[in-house]
Formats: sequence, C-alpha cells, structure tokens
Amino acid sequence: ATEETLVLVKPDGVARGLTGAILARIEAKGYALVDIRLVEPDRETLAQHYAEHEGKPFYEPLLEFMMSGPSVAIRLAGNRVIEGFRSLAGTTDPTTAAPGTIRGDFGRDWGLKVQQNLVHGSDSVESAERELAIWFS
Ligand code: CMP
Repeated sequence: ATEETLVLVKPDGVARGLTGAILARIEAKGYALVDIRLVEPDRETLAQHYAEHEGKPFYEPLLEFMMSGPSVAIRLAGNRVIEGFRSLAGTTDPTTAAPGTIRGDFGRDWGLKVQQNLVHGSDSVESAERELAIWFS
C-alpha cells in the first residue's frame, strides 16, 4: 500500500556532502518527496524521536551526534516505502552493510561510540506516523 516514512540524512551525511547522492538514489527508486527541510533539532526533539533507545550505551553519544550539525528531514511517499527505504539504506553497521546500499557504499566505521551511519528511516507504519509528527509538526 502507499505509505509515508520519515527519512533523515543525518549530520555525517550532510557534512560529507552526500545529501544529493542520497536523494538521487531515493528519486531513482521512484519514491516521492512530499516535504523536505533542513533541521537542527534540540535535545527534546531527539529525546522524543529516540525514546526507545533511552538507557542504551549509545543513547547519549547518539543525541550529541545528532546535535553536532544540521540534518535533512524528508517526508517520503511510495508503495511499501517504509520497507523499501530501509532496504536502500542497508543495515545499521556501515562495515557490514551490503554494497549497493547507502550505508554499504558510503558508510564508514569511525570507531566512535555511536554508529554514524548517514541516514535514518522509520521501521514501521506506527513509527513513521509518530516520527513524522515530531519532525513535520
Ligand atoms: P537510527 O536508524 O537513527 O536509529 C538509532 C541509531 O542509533 C542508529 O541509527 C545508529 O546511529 C545508532 N545505533 C544503533 N545501534 C547501535 C549500536 N549497537 N552501537 C552504536 N550505535 C548504534
């Protein structure tokens, strides 16, 4: 079914000048950009977005990383786009993400406490609705 998802090009992707390359893959796949904006989230916004990770060892480094520079937030639409974008992104760990995916082709393991893995994509219909409300309210 046609769905919407939240995609973030995270601070490492924006800082490395990969926003265009990432958008090109999303557009080539045929997904529709419904809304797009440059964002500099505060701690409160990130705490809402990453509520499920509170208490995990990478939680604080993750929030610090996400406040280290601007991200690009995208409201993306398409048939099965939630699953489809996660497939384009590749798995969380950039070292083992499959070549051909965003993380597999561009992601680097910097040896830091948090995976700086270029993009975020909602993982379910419920997450997408919740996250879109946070970033596009
Ligand atoms: P994201 O899809 O934005 O959701 C949670 C983020 O936490 C994830 O991408 C990574 O940036 C980071 N992350 C998830 N698991 C780990 C982990 N085991 N170690 C370090 N960082 C992680």
